[in-house]
Amino acid sequence: MKKPILLAHRGFSGEYPENSPIAFEAAVQKTACDGFESDVHITKDGKLVIFHDATLERTSNGTGYLKDYTYDELMQLDIGSWKAPEFAGQHIWTFDQLLDFCHDTHMLLNMELKNYEVFYEGLEQMVIDAVCAHKMQDEVFVSSFNHISMQHFKNLNGDIKTGLLYDKPFLDIDKYIERSNADNMHPRYMLLQYQPELVDLYHGRGMNVNTWTVNEVSDMRDMMERGVDSIISNHPDVLCRVAEEMCK
Ligand code: G3P
Ligand code: MG
Repeated sequence: MKKPILLAHRGFSGEYPENSPIAFEAAVQKTACDGFESDVHITKDGKLVIFHDATLERTSNGTGYLKDYTYDELMQLDIGSWKAPEFAGQHIWTFDQLLDFCHDTHMLLNMELKNYEVFYEGLEQMVIDAVCAHKMQDEVFVSSFNHISMQHFKNLNGDIKTGLLYDKPFLDIDKYIERSNADNMHPRYMLLQYQPELVDLYHGRGMNVNTWTVNEVSDMRDMMERGVDSIISNHPDVLCRVAEEMCK
């Protein structure tokens, strides 16, 4: 069985504070994953930063929308304590810092553009510029729930692979993607169980199938059996063990 690309979702987020430096470091040190999935936003003063939610409350000691704070202000936040006191002092990374880390550790990066709740103007070009400055066009692939953004991204840069994230079944998905210029599909894993024909349909169009967020062993096995190209999990340690068993 083909081994899919195994990605740590927001770093090793099952055990460490999501999208924090220690979560990325732990994924490299403690697992055999191939890379990360992570999320990017723009600060008030125009810097790209790594964070999941549009707002700060859930995973930091800040409040309100991230977009309303400068990078220096965001750097004051603790993004570790909410997970456990031992993680106090974790700080937000810039996209450049994450790219440097991926470069140094030979990790792939699926960068999710978080532009469906806040519509960050110019996010696509900023991500392209950063990836190209690091010469990581082959190591980074992007995705978004905002499919207009992915179309725009592809028109701006043909080299970096794009993907359409989705979490609900579509009517006439084959017609929907006919007009898309995306390289990959990023369905939530249960959609592939609900419509088993999708993997072949996407592969038939030359698209990779990168699925998320697969946290149960039975679902990991199922996705590997279905022949997906990449699996994203909060538990990259478990995911790698399952792949080791199944993909000899
Ligand atoms: O990219 C896969 C997954 O991260 C999409 O949803 O909310 O976890 O960013 P979310
Ligand atoms: Mg994400």
